[in-house]
Amino acid sequence: MDKLLIEGGKRLVGETSISGAKNAALPILCAALLSAEPVTFTNVPQLKDVATLLALLGQMGVKIEREGDTVTLDASALDNPVAPYEMVKTMRASILVLGPLVARCGEARVSLPGGCAIGARPVDQHIKGLQAMGAEVAVEHGYVHARASRLKGARLVADVVTVTGTENLMMAASLADGTSIIENAAREPEVIDLANCLIAMGAKISGAGTGVIHIEGVPRLHGAQHSIMPDRIETGTYLCAAAATGGDIRLTGAMASSLDAVIGKLIEAGCTVQSEPKAIRLSAPPRLSSVSLRTAPHPAFPTDMQAQFMALDCIAQGTAIISETIFENRFMHATELQRLGADIHIDGNTAIVRGVERLQGASVMATDLRASASLVIAGLTAEGETTIERIYHLDRGYERLEEKLAALGAKARRIK
Ligand code: EPZ
Repeated sequence: MDKLLIEGGKRLVGETSISGAKNAALPILCAALLSAEPVTFTNVPQLKDVATLLALLGQMGVKIEREGDTVTLDASALDNPVAPYEMVKTMRASILVLGPLVARCGEARVSLPGGCAIGARPVDQHIKGLQAMGAEVAVEHGYVHARASRLKGARLVADVVTVTGTENLMMAASLADGTSIIENAAREPEVIDLANCLIAMGAKISGAGTGVIHIEGVPRLHGAQHSIMPDRIETGTYLCAAAATGGDIRLTGAMASSLDAVIGKLIEAGCTVQSEPKAIRLSAPPRLSSVSLRTAPHPAFPTDMQAQFMALDCIAQGTAIISETIFENRFMHATELQRLGADIHIDGNTAIVRGVERLQGASVMATDLRASASLVIAGLTAEGETTIERIYHLDRGYERLEEKLAALGAKARRIK
């Protein structure tokens, strides 16, 4: 297994570019299933999760052409509406094929994604919504079997704000007979990006980005082109890395408007942040001030940035209280940060982080995608060398990580 070896203590200074958003690309690639005409997506990040999903779509009969960050998908010969366990178990977001398959083919067999390191990750809201639209759904032998001759528009009230649940149901409702309303919908920018892609394909959607989304079903969707939005979590991760090292960086291709809560916290910590139309600049003081935060659905502070911010608070001046309200087990990075000398006390879904002067380099283990990013940030600030094991987690969500870190002056190299 690959390891990442980081020499800490270097200020991050320089410029690098932001790739397309993983969590926008995944639902948007699934949207291709809704049309019998080819669709072309640009700014698609070259990530493990994207490759996994393209393989899953390919075995369903979707023809795929990939040229760099441009992907063309043709689902005209879609003939196998099945997402097998072997493929779904490596990437939970595969559940996003469920809604499109039922809407386009009238049936779907999708392996239950199961939990993952950060939590149980149930999909009951996805199933409840499809049933409300008239689908027969049975969960047996670890698979979701869904069938509907044609979905009917319905009023869908989510019990909990769910990003992929909102996305699955918005895609399904696009081809339903009649109008659907999704209430208590997720408001993440990636939901808006998916809606914009569906509208380009002929869907009739309004309200994406608010808690109430209206979808008027249409008989079919046509081909389209769409460029994936920039990755706001990748952006936030590099901003945190620069903040932790007293650095001064510029990220091109970034979209500041999708990161207000994170930028607000970085400014509270003592950083200066300048937003341009397609770039963000951050310069940091030699030492940050501790900043408390509480994760919640967009536009509040994103759970996907909690681990990265905890790394900042480990070496900041003061004590921070971090509350994780979305997932039940998303503090696994804390024990690894403690190996680097961090002073963290976990009490349920709250972490108390007392800032120390300096972390000490050590060997640590990545457990999930964003926890790994947190360890990279800590390693960049720690004294001496930090080795991060199991960095396949990082490869799922960060394109050309070492290259981008090197562009910012970091000393990080991969050991096979
Ligand atoms: C999406 O996951 C993201 N993944 C996650 O990013 C992100 O952490 C999460 O949203 C929250 O922002 C993608 O977009 C591919 P949820 P998702 O459904 O949709 C509960 C990363 O690091 N829930 O919004 O699976 C659930 O247990 C990944 O890139 C139900 O109870 O998350 C959780 O507590 C990690 N029933 C809460 O809702 C359901 O049917 C939010 O989950 C669905 C969810």
